Amino acid sequence: MADTRKIAVGADHGGYELKGVIVEHLRQSGYVVQDFGTHGLESVDYPDYAYQVARAVAAGEYDLGILICGTGIGMSIAANKIVGVRAAVCGDTYSARMSRLHNNANILCLGGRVLGPGLALDIVDVWLRTEFEGGRHARRVEKIRQMEASRR
Ligand code: RB5
Repeated sequence: MADTRKIAVGADHGGYELKGVIVEHLRQSGYVVQDFGTHGLESVDYPDYAYQVARAVAAGEYDLGILICGTGIGMSIAANKIVGVRAAVCGDTYSARMSRLHNNANILCLGGRVLGPGLALDIVDVWLRTEFEGGRHARRVEKIRQMEASRR
């Protein structure tokens, strides 16, 4: 049966082309995808897209999010400013799997200028198919949540 979870996707110009590949792949796989842009190669500011996707995921409007910029780094730094977001930059499938199993990452950040489309799609597939392990990792993620709460 198709996975119909709702995925929010966003990119800046550095991630625009890879975003197209990922959105197409996700839709073909049955996911419900919201593309928050950008919609062209014109230079834009990645925090604007990180903000929209991170807010929507933190509000529970989407199950998970994917953000793409040149390296994935700017998107992850920006997205992690939103309370409730655990954004992870992944450049390999092992990190992608662990970011779900151990960190319960709810946003995957990718580098459109770092990854080819084949590896990027493998990373996306592994990330989406892996569930949080819980147990001792839930205690650690809860400590992160408490750090967030103490910042308010
Ligand atoms: C844009 O040139 C680039 O800085 C951006 O895509 C991203 O890599 C930032 O982290």
